[in-house]
Amino acid sequence: MGFDPRVDLGRGLVLPNPIGTASGTFGYGFEAEEMGSLIGLGAVYTKGTTLHPRQGNSPPRISETRAGMLNSIGLQNPGVDVVATAYARRWLDWRVPVVVNVAGADQDEYVRVCERLSGAAGVAGLELNISCPNISHGLDFGTDPGRAAQLVAAVRRVTELPLLVKLTPNVTDITEVGRAVQDAGADAVSAVNTYVGMKISLPERRPVLRGLGLAGLSGPAIKPLALATVGRLRRSLLIPIVGIGGIASSRDALEFMVAGADAIQIGTANFYRPGIAVEVARECLEFAAGEGLAGWGDLRQLEPVDSSRS
Ligand code: SIN
Repeated sequence: MGFDPRVDLGRGLVLPNPIGTASGTFGYGFEAEEMGSLIGLGAVYTKGTTLHPRQGNSPPRISETRAGMLNSIGLQNPGVDVVATAYARRWLDWRVPVVVNVAGADQDEYVRVCERLSGAAGVAGLELNISCPNISHGLDFGTDPGRAAQLVAAVRRVTELPLLVKLTPNVTDITEVGRAVQDAGADAVSAVNTYVGMKISLPERRPVLRGLGLAGLSGPAIKPLALATVGRLRRSLLIPIVGIGGIASSRDALEFMVAGADAIQIGTANFYRPGIAVEVARECLEFAAGEGLAGWGDLRQLEPVDSSRS
């Protein structure tokens, strides 16, 4: 049998290949469309979308670190009405599935945004963002398994769209939140969003990034942390996992698949190399052909690591 590059994230969301672009690093895909960089992508995960338009935090909002990037964007977006109408209409003609990342200040906002998007042809799925460290209530759901479950159940009641939940690593035990959202009806999880970080301006005696003063750390610095987290989630969840965290090459992507990811999002690397996700997708396919894989599942590590061994 030939190699099947597709990935099934549940409820009919089948990606042509596992490699997608992470929320907040690729807008709504239109710049990539103009550059011809959508062809060969597995999925586009959009910027976090809220009920009303948001300007986001005051600049500066991004700053490089030694091995990564800090952001405090504050969910700048045009609001769900624009996304569900003008944007979704354009996605209808695309071959690449578009998953809309959804954010909110409270449960009611998430539910209303998801309800609005569910009627929009062109939206392939929803990714509930319960992990934004840059707005005041951005982590309320992601750090509390009970509230995360309630939110997922409430959203599940208003949409039949495939539902991913993007988890925060800023918790003691991410598997508790993962299990809670799985049991409440999530089809897949995305792991992980950024780690809470800070950069200080010594002359000004204050954080470089405004907003809350804190910011989200991404890029190569977090890759080993994210890999370990994906491995832990894989051992406790049954639903698919979309791995994220410092992925900048096909080798990185394949390593995440060995650790247990079913699909991949490339984030920070898009900033310095637009088009990298398409390259990574092509190289992963070449690797699969070279190794004679039947499916991506063949990459899963053979022996699950025994977490009880110290
Ligand atoms: C932001 O807009 O501040 C980033 C979104 C996120 O971290 O989820």
